[in-house]
Amino acid sequence: MTRLADQLSALLGDAFAAMELDPALGRVSESDRPDLAPYQCNGALAAAKQAGKPPRAIADGVKAHLAATAPDLDIEIAGPGFLNITPSQQLYSARARVISADERTGAGQVETPLKVMIDFGGPNVAKPMHVGHLRSSVIGDSLQRLMRFLGHEVTSDIHLGDWGLQMGQLITELEDEQPDLPYFDEAFTGPYPADAPVTIEDLARLYPQASAKGKEDPARQERSRKATAELQAGRAGYRALLKHFINVSIAALKEDFSALGVHFDLWKGESDVNDLIPGLVEDFKARGVAELSDGAWIVRVAREDDKKELAPLILVSSQGSALYATTDLATIQDRRDTINPGLILYVVDLGQSDHFEQVFRAAVKAGLASEGGLEHVKFGTVNGPDGKRLRTRSGGTFRLADLIEEARERARARLAEAGLGETLDADALEDVARKVANAAIKFADLQNYRTTNYIFEMDRFVSFEGKTGPYLLYQAVRIKSLLRKAAGEGLEPGEISVSAPEEAALVRRLDGFHGALMRAHDDRAPNHICEHVYGLSQAFSSFYAACPILPEKDEAVRRSRLALAALTLKQLELGLSLIGVEAPEQM
Ligand code: ARG
Repeated sequence: MTRLADQLSALLGDAFAAMELDPALGRVSESDRPDLAPYQCNGALAAAKQAGKPPRAIADGVKAHLAATAPDLDIEIAGPGFLNITPSQQLYSARARVISADERTGAGQVETPLKVMIDFGGPNVAKPMHVGHLRSSVIGDSLQRLMRFLGHEVTSDIHLGDWGLQMGQLITELEDEQPDLPYFDEAFTGPYPADAPVTIEDLARLYPQASAKGKEDPARQERSRKATAELQAGRAGYRALLKHFINVSIAALKEDFSALGVHFDLWKGESDVNDLIPGLVEDFKARGVAELSDGAWIVRVAREDDKKELAPLILVSSQGSALYATTDLATIQDRRDTINPGLILYVVDLGQSDHFEQVFRAAVKAGLASEGGLEHVKFGTVNGPDGKRLRTRSGGTFRLADLIEEARERARARLAEAGLGETLDADALEDVARKVANAAIKFADLQNYRTTNYIFEMDRFVSFEGKTGPYLLYQAVRIKSLLRKAAGEGLEPGEISVSAPEEAALVRRLDGFHGALMRAHDDRAPNHICEHVYGLSQAFSSFYAACPILPEKDEAVRRSRLALAALTLKQLELGLSLIGVEAPEQM
């Protein structure tokens, strides 16, 4: 399963070795000047110093050696001693056949598979999800797909925000609306009703109501705070209510996420580790990891060489409550005890960088995790046309559900324009609209390196032209229809044999799949996958324009090209699946 650049590196390495030079000098990469040759090696320049010979002389020696040992390569020497390498058609053909016979179209696996936990999504109970949660979901889902594909044992966890002040706000607001519910009666001994006293619509209404009142009235806010503390301390009626709130929220979230094609293995939340907190705090105190400061228990995490001062982590506030960082630490302990992952990735916006730095350092200090075992996979913001964080027209935070509906609306309009409505029934059409909308939203997000902020432009995202998700779907659909037509004419793909330069270029792209996936893996950055599938589509377009398939008269050539098209589709769909995008049959 050797990639072309690696095959070439081995051949050139031998040539360097034959001249008593380090074979590593023979490393070949894709060329910066594809107009001259597709591959290059700059080793002769580096070797010149070691060998005390002019680079040109070394390049001549390498070329002479390869002329005898590797007739499949055409070597040109450029400038002071750059080696420009063009593989023969046979080499391309052989590589293409190997990729074509491989289920994974050339993608390998990681050398050291780990147990990886991915913490992403992170919506908050009762609060609507916003575009920050969208980015986390889209990036996190792509990473879980990629890491699984590359051989890691992945567990994903949504890590719901279900333990903060918003719970006290909901409880008190519900109490004002329905004071007779048994949850508020401290004398009630249970059992509490099995049916939830609220719907998701109630929650969506109660939270902003309570939040607005609290902002105006400090006493009202204090009630919410007190209820939160009582909930955390274990008040039975409040715990029962919490369960209902969480269940109602999860049911609604499951619907949203499944429409988006995003999956979580675990639906745990902050509240799940509450019972671990007292023990954790005691342990931190006993071992001197935590210290008392102004009535609060803190963990000092600053280091001497820090460029910017990092505040201590607050483990227990002076009012005695556990905070966001405390639940994150307890969650690390829980994950260690239940799953024991070698790596935990947190896909969370970069605004929380200090929080994670504090948590990671405290966890390492306390021996809950090892250095490097916790990683904050940060991302930037989604902005409006004004360059500021995306808001709705009325100035509120953008809701995920509205955004998805808007994308679908546009997709439906676009599909109607294309006349697809006449050939598909309503359900099938809606399924295509969903796929197009998801592709538009996900690709628009993932094609940027994750820390880059981007501007939300729905019109551009749903366009079928340019570097967009729908363009890629369109390319996949075009190949599918070509293959259907070929099958209808009784044509079968055959053995690949490369002759045109556009075919060679397509094979080079196909051969780059593994490298792109590894870059995405190493940088935790799905944009490398996006680059790959986009480049592949473009290479296919050039190939298809230059190399007719169905009209081709030569049977062997036609079947070879058909095989190249089928292979491109297979890799394209595989690549798309790793960014959570699915191509329809028609569009
Ligand atoms: N619920 C949090 C928020 O909305 C995100 C949770 C991120 N994950 C974590 N382990 N802290 O900001």
